[in-house]
Order: sequence, then structure tokens, then C-alpha cells
Amino acid sequence: MSRFIALEGADGCGKSTQVDRLAQSLLSRGEQVVTVREPGSTSLGERVREILLDGKEPLGAEAEALLFLASRSQLLTEVIEPALAEGKWVIADRFHISTLVYQGIAGELGEQRAVELCHAVIGERRPELNIVLEMSPEELKQRIDKRIGSGDRFESRPGIHERTTKAFHEVKGIPGDRIIRIDGSASADDVAARIEQEVVVGLR
Ligand code: TYD
Repeated sequence: MSRFIALEGADGCGKSTQVDRLAQSLLSRGEQVVTVREPGSTSLGERVREILLDGKEPLGAEAEALLFLASRSQLLTEVIEPALAEGKWVIADRFHISTLVYQGIAGELGEQRAVELCHAVIGERRPELNIVLEMSPEELKQRIDKRIGSGDRFESRPGIHERTTKAFHEVKGIPGDRIIRIDGSASADDVAARIEQEVVVGLR
């Protein structure tokens, strides 16, 4: 059985905390868990991450999406598929839904083209459950303003918080994707409990 789950949501929604919480909860049940972040988690992925996030390199919309997909393809081959084959759980901090949102709906590529590119590269090698943490743009902005330092290439784009929260609300995924939306503005404990409920119930 595949046990591949992605946590998705706009910057500041608490996704990374929830990735750790879910991993801890599964570990405490005696499961083996691998967590990955996107882009990154392989040597190639970390190099691609630098190009993508530091914003120094001019990038067209297609090249940008294809770099995310190059990182993801390598991550599937090098880390995710071997882990699943060994019966481990894989929890991804972002996966293809982020590409459909940031490059597709909220970016310049358009949703249809983003779906085509994602499908061409990853095919059926997708999470069996995509959990989107939803929050209002105002709430996200408050959380992000408390962070130290400037945003990356994506966080510093004008109007990005409004566009991405809306896009996460609308995104349908690649046909066949299972997407569940959870209110990310609840307390971390409540959100963790909701996620655990979905993961355990969904896989029974
Ligand atoms: P990261 O620092 O990992 O942000 P977060 O902690 O919010 O996950 O940076 C990832 C950035 O890359 C984030 O702004 C979203 C963006 N992104 C895309 O634009 N497309 C993608 O396919 C992925 C995976 C991320």
C-alpha cells in the first residue's frame, strides 16, 4: 500500500509544523516515516532550490515550472519511490499542487499548462492524499509580517498572498487527485488532530 501524503498551503499557513506533527504521530504508532520538502531534499533539488528561490536568475514561466519538476522528478526517483517500496510513509511539504497554484493559477503559466507539465513529468507518481491548509490572506499576512528577513522570489511577488490563498481554494489538481481542505487558522493542536483523522480514516 502506498502511503504518500502531501501537505499544501500558502506561505505561513503552518504546513511545516504540521508535517512534523504528522510524522511524529505516525512514528509513535510504530510506522517508518520519511519527510521531504519541495524544492529540495536531494543534492540536485537543493541546487535547483537556490536558483529558484534566490531570484537572481531571470526565469520564464515554463523554465520555472520545469525546474520545480526536475527537482520533483529526482526526488521521486531518489527518495520517494524507494521509501514507498520499503513500506515507509512519505510526507511531502508541498508537491505538485504547489506548482498548479504558484506557477499555474496564480502565476503566468495558466492552470491547464501546469496540469499538462505536471502530468507529463510525474504521471501517476502522485500523493494519494493532498491536504491543503487554508487561511485568509489577512491572517497569512499577519503571520508572515512577524517573520524576520525578506521573502524569497515567490513571497516577494506583489499580491501573491491574495492570489495564492484564492488559488489554493480553487485548485482541482490533476484528474484523479484526492484533495482535502482543512482550516489552518485553528490551533496547531486542532489542525494536527484533523489531519491525523483524515490520514488514519482515509487509509483504513
Ligand atoms: P519554502 O521556503 O520551502 O516555503 P514554505 O516554507 O512556505 O514551503 O519555499 C518554497 C517557495 O516555492 C514557496 O514560496 C512556494 C514556491 N513553490 C512554487 O512556486 N512552486 C512549487 O511547485 C513549489 C513546490 C514551491
